Formats: sequence, structure tokens, C-alpha cells
Amino acid sequence: MSVPSPILDAFGLHGRVAIVTGASSGLGVAFAQALAEAGADVVLGARRVDRLEQTKALVEATGRRALAVATDVADPDSCRALVAAAVEAFGRVDVLVNNAGIGTAVPALKETPEQFRSVIDVNLNGAYWTAQAAAAAMTDGGSIINISSVLGITTAGLPQAAYAASKAGLDGLTRDLAQQWTGRRGIRVNSVAPGFFASEMTEQYADGYLAKQQERILAGRTGDPRELAATVVFLAGPGAGYITGQTIVVDGGLTIA
Ligand SMILES: NC(=O)c1ccc[n+]([C@@H]2O[C@H](COP(=O)([O-])OP(=O)(O)OC[C@H]3O[C@@H](n4cnc5c(N)ncnc54)[C@H](OP(=O)(O)O)[C@@H]3O)[C@@H](O)[C@H]2O)c1
Repeated sequence: MSVPSPILDAFGLHGRVAIVTGASSGLGVAFAQALAEAGADVVLGARRVDRLEQTKALVEATGRRALAVATDVADPDSCRALVAAAVEAFGRVDVLVNNAGIGTAVPALKETPEQFRSVIDVNLNGAYWTAQAAAAAMTDGGSIINISSVLGITTAGLPQAAYAASKAGLDGLTRDLAQQWTGRRGIRVNSVAPGFFASEMTEQYADGYLAKQQERILAGRTGDPRELAATVVFLAGPGAGYITGQTIVVDGGLTIA
């Protein structure tokens, strides 16, 4: 017989509905699966619908409901349609994980306006459009989690002006939306700044790059996506009810070394 554990109930998401953008690969898949394991029904947004269907199957294997919605977060209409689809299918929205992101590395003297803008459009503007749409649908107790990066706080040897600016911008956006919505609407807004976690994004790095960065990580290894997902689940639920406007760094100690 299991022993009642009220404190662990504060980490549960039963009866809640979560939206995860960028749920077609990498960390977004881990977030969707973990939110479902915690009890949430999950709405999945990204451009590659075939890959979203695979994540949908993982969510449904936990016994929760899932919905895959073709979404381009660079398009405000598409972000509004994602939230509308969530409300139509499951009746409410409690959690938004703004995870969709692209990473580029282009030397500043060579970067075109289109290249710079495309990163800001997805990583920063896309998070804002989706947060606007989700907050309008959320009621008291909502939680928005923006997936930022340690690149919003420090550098990592690659020419990533657009990416670093987008993530530092996302942390600022987080603070301001927390200021606007926590008291007035009961919606907490936080960001999570991951260090290095295996994904399609990190597969693009040149040979030896991650090994070199690993020397900076106190934990001596890259992170497991499940270790990041646990932080997202915590921020999503009532256990984090007094945390808002913060950037939570999950990096194995990289930024303090
Ligand atoms: N992995 C790391 O070490 C690390 C570290 C720090 C921060 N992060 C952040 O974590 C997030 C997830 O990255 P990841 O490592 O999991 O990379 P990933 O495997 O490349 O996943 C990126 C996701 O974003 C989606 N996406 C890209 N552009 C989109 C758009 N216009 N509209 C909707 N979805 C879009 C992609 O889906 P589609 O292509 O199907 O649209 C994909 O699902 C990103 O915000 C990234 O900056 C990752």
C-alpha cells in the first residue's frame, strides 16, 4: 500500500492541459513525455507533423491525451491557432512550454539581416506570440515556461550573436510578462536556461566542440533531457507556486565554473 505524500502531490499535473512548442524533436519530446507522466494532457506544436505524431504516441502511452498541431511559431496567426486548437480539444490551457528554437553560428561580419532576423523571429518573437495567445486562454494558476539557454548569460566559443541575443531577450521577456500577469492574472512566467543536452541541435556541432565545452562543466558530463524535464514539470505545477519572473539555470555548474 502506498503511503500518502501531500508534498509529492504538489508536483502532479492531473487534470491540467499543457502546450509544448518544438515537440517534434530533442528536448521538446522529453518535456511532453514528462508533463504527461505528471498527469497532464499535452498539445504538441511544431512544423514537422510526422514527427509530432511520434511524440503524440509517447504521450498517449502514459495514458494521457495528446493533440498534434502543425505550427510555425514565427507566424502569430499560427500561434493563436495552436492555442485555439488546445482549447477546442481539451477545454483549457494551464501550462505553456515555449521550447521551439533554432540555433545558428554565423560570424557577425558575415551574418545577413535575414539570418539574424530568422533566429529572433523563432526564439524570441515566437515565444511572445505564443505566450500572448496562451495567457488570454489561461485562468488563475497558469504557468508559462520559456526555454532559454546559458547563452543568454555567458558565451561558449561559437559566433552566436543572434542566438545569444534571442535567449537574453527571452529572459527579459520572462521578467516583464511575470510582472504583467502574475498579480493581475495569476499566471507565473519563468525561464529555464539549459547548458548542454543531447539533441538534434547539439548534433550539428563540429567534432570535438562538446568535449571541449565539457571541461567547463562541474558535473563533468552533458545533461540528460530527463534532468531538464524534471525542472519544467516542477515549474509547471503548484510546487513552484511562489516562483515567478526567474531564470532557472540547469547546466551542471557550467556558468559558475
Ligand atoms: N540541446 C541543448 O543543449 C540546448 C541548450 C540550451 C537551450 N536549448 C534550447 O532548447 C530548445 C529545444 O532545442 P533542442 O536542443 O531540443 O533542439 P532541436 O532538437 O533542434 O529541437 C528544436 C525544436 O524547435 C522546433 N522549431 C524550430 N523552428 C520552429 C518554428 N518556426 N515553429 C515551430 N517549431 C519550430 C523544431 O521543430 P520543427 O523543425 O518540426 O518545426 C524542433 O521541434 C531550443 O529553444 C533551444 O534553444 C537547447
